[in-house]
Amino acid sequence: MKILVCNTPGTLSYQEAEKPVLEKDHTIIKIKRIGICGTDLHAFEGTQPFFNYPRILGHELSGEIVEMDGAPGFSVGEAVTFIPYFNCGTCVACRNERPNCCTTLKVSGVHIDGGMSEYLSVPSYSLVHGDGLTYDELALVEPLAIGAHGIRRADVRKNEMVLVVGAGPIGLGAMEFARIAGGRVIALDINDSRLDFAREKIGVEFTVNALTDNVAEKLAEITNGDMPTVIVDATGNLRAINTAFSYLAHGGRYVLVGLQKGEISFSHPEFHKREATLMSSRNATRADFEHVIQSMKNGLVDPKTYITHRVTFPQVKEQFESWLDPANGVIKAMVAVE
Ligand SMILES: NC(=O)c1ccc[n+]([C@@H]2O[C@H](COP(=O)([O-])OP(=O)(O)OC[C@H]3O[C@@H](n4cnc5c(N)ncnc54)[C@H](O)[C@@H]3O)[C@@H](O)[C@H]2O)c1
Ligand SMILES: [Zn+2]
Ligand SMILES: [Zn+2]
Repeated sequence: MKILVCNTPGTLSYQEAEKPVLEKDHTIIKIKRIGICGTDLHAFEGTQPFFNYPRILGHELSGEIVEMDGAPGFSVGEAVTFIPYFNCGTCVACRNERPNCCTTLKVSGVHIDGGMSEYLSVPSYSLVHGDGLTYDELALVEPLAIGAHGIRRADVRKNEMVLVVGAGPIGLGAMEFARIAGGRVIALDINDSRLDFAREKIGVEFTVNALTDNVAEKLAEITNGDMPTVIVDATGNLRAINTAFSYLAHGGRYVLVGLQKGEISFSHPEFHKREATLMSSRNATRADFEHVIQSMKNGLVDPKTYITHRVTFPQVKEQFESWLDPANGVIKAMVAVE
């Protein structure tokens, strides 16, 4: 079978490899779609921390079951996606039903080889039923589940003002699931075309541009002086993360979905007087995947809007670099594998 390997930062090559052989409690999936994620782009650029090469990228996947063991309820030929974070099952996080932050988590396409290949073997426990969704839709479940998880961590309630900072694919997902939870969403970004996308394509009520607006004033105006009771960072930008502490309402919750390498710093008295809650949000759980799938089935999210670029598997190598350039307006590039 054909695989696409990221050998070193900046180089991709197609290679021939043996098809995976069925192992106990594993399922072999014929890959149909591969969504391209920021993580894949950063790995290619060489800016992804703790990344080893060579690596087969790709973790936003859907496909068809061709062979399986230990997958009761699934059938050969079924369209599936899977939860691409493989956990140990015994550590403190796994014992406490937090497999998404397992102490030795292995993410497909990051810590172990992922899905830029024609076939992939995955642990059968990770499978998720396709439930009548298309392969495009199924490949978009994982990135949307990241935002859905952040919103679940924040426990967004009806009519709450939710500020999502960063309108990339992850932030857009958080905005959708904040709205589905009944929140009133404010999108903050520095890129007008992404703010337009949030307003026009996914129906975000308020947008604020951090470069051209006075953010604190604008947020006070939108929230009638209260400020947002929930803030979600989906920028992964240190300055944006530090600044947003000051936008939080008294009694508010701040959830970090975005990730960066530096140290966060904020005023302790400002944090204290708000009795604020700070949380990180890592990956997603089966409950989030199922919530995303139900929301797609009920028409609450329309994943097609996310796909701005489409290619076939043999075109990935030559197109990959162009997806790094913000001028190309990529929200989600989707690869079809024949
Ligand atoms: N929680 C998880 O497990 C998880 C999973 C996947 C990705 N992530 C992280 O989520 C973050 C977002 O991912 P993405 O793929 O959507 O990234 P992206 O780069 O496509 O989007 C980030 C957005 O933030 C905006 N931004 C940057 N600086 C800003 C600032 N100072 N103020 C306002 N907006 C600003 C950018 O214009 C951009 O639109 C990244 O940090 C990524 O590492 C986390
Ligand atoms: Zn991803
Ligand atoms: Zn574990």
